[in-house]
Amino acid sequence: MLEKRLREIGQDHIADLVKAKSPYISLKRLEQDLGQIDSKTLMDLIEGKGIFIPPEGKMQPPDVVPADFAHTKDAKVARERGEDLISQGRVAVVMVAGGQGSRLGLSGPKGALGISPVKKKSLFQLHSEKILALKKRYNKAIPFLIMTSRSNDADTRRFFEANAFFGLGRDEVYFFVQGMMPSITAEGRLIISRDGGLFMNPDGHGGTLDALKKSGLLGMLGERGVDLIFYFQVDNPLVKMCDPLFLGLHVQKDAQMSSKVVEKRDFDEKVGVIAVVDGKTRVIEYSDLKEEFMYMEDDEGRPVYRAGSIAIHLFDRAFIEAITVRGINLPYHKAVKNIPTIDQYGRPVEIKGIKFEKFIFDALPFAERTLTLEVKREQEFAPVKNKTGQDSIESAISLQDKLFRSWLARAGRIVENGIKVEISPLFALDEEDLLSKASALPSKIEKDLYIE
Ligand code: UD1
Repeated sequence: MLEKRLREIGQDHIADLVKAKSPYISLKRLEQDLGQIDSKTLMDLIEGKGIFIPPEGKMQPPDVVPADFAHTKDAKVARERGEDLISQGRVAVVMVAGGQGSRLGLSGPKGALGISPVKKKSLFQLHSEKILALKKRYNKAIPFLIMTSRSNDADTRRFFEANAFFGLGRDEVYFFVQGMMPSITAEGRLIISRDGGLFMNPDGHGGTLDALKKSGLLGMLGERGVDLIFYFQVDNPLVKMCDPLFLGLHVQKDAQMSSKVVEKRDFDEKVGVIAVVDGKTRVIEYSDLKEEFMYMEDDEGRPVYRAGSIAIHLFDRAFIEAITVRGINLPYHKAVKNIPTIDQYGRPVEIKGIKFEKFIFDALPFAERTLTLEVKREQEFAPVKNKTGQDSIESAISLQDKLFRSWLARAGRIVENGIKVEISPLFALDEEDLLSKASALPSKIEKDLYIE
């Protein structure tokens, strides 16, 4: 049966191993892995179909609501609209946490990383506490949906269990597992993994949409009356959870999918940029942005394509329903990687293989109406990507510290250099929140301080 299926999908080299009862393969693992593979998708990818092709059409920078808009009267109206949506229970959160954290050399989930300046709270804790604080502020539970992958699902659930869900109700936190994709060689052959199955990787954060649908969670949200989904990546401790301004603007514009951006730090910062190609809004990943656009300058010497995506989106649930029901397949992005496998004698070796992933932002061009909101980097973006240097654990800690200092300075509390400060989301979610509680702050801050 297994052998037949393998031959049907052109994988005779593995079928032969099954037939010969090779000691280096595990029938159980093989069966499990093959069960996750959709033959048609695999055959298409082998033939080069369904693969992302960078769009070639007429490219323009997008319309962006500038960061300064946040201080206008219109912003106040939009913010109130957003707050109403949260109070009415119409908003849910989806966090993607299925990645492998390979650049950080982690073995467990990235979200378990201790990252706050004083208490070293984990990313999971910070995000959960923001949701809890919103729940208290608006007196409404916000469903928190966490996407994991096969390799970190059990650890992630255990981490939440062990920490009593950080104060959230168990029935408010939902885990769902993203799909897996096999890697192949340049000749289209599946690759044996070291544990005798197939070498598979999570299918990219683009897999979120299918996984939401398949898990039944999209339907559950519909039944609960949720129509807006706030989407973010686990690796950003500064995420402004369910930002009411973002929610309000999205709804005012009747957008189907919206994005937050920051001005790129420099021409070659490794973030995707929002652009409009042939009238369709999309994110062009840094590795796909042609040099002529990457280095294109405006009159003030700034990059023309400077709307850097911070991977925070807002989706209409109905939009996700529509594109998943219509069976729209987001394209697969190819990446050539070193893949651990075994040779014919069962010895560990590495070979070059092709890994396939879908990207969530490829859903953007399917939306008829989109909105792009610029925000201030220092207030909302501190991604943890690398071990050291830019976008590292160290930089994310220092960016949080800086932001908390700036809030405290507005409240008239100056913190000397060398002293660390941390403000719990349960005390204040933003500067205004902190200012409204300024009387509860100590008058002098002379040593490391955690405010909760
Ligand atoms: C990503 C974006 C980039 C954006 C930047 C902002 C891509 C391809 N690029 O870059 O446009 O400017 O973030 O920080 O995403 N994940 C899963 N499952 C997967 C793969 C990833 O859940 O199969 C999650 C990871 O846990 C992580 C996030 O997606 O939270 C981003 O993945 P990562 O590989 O770190 O993307 P970047 O290249 O840093």
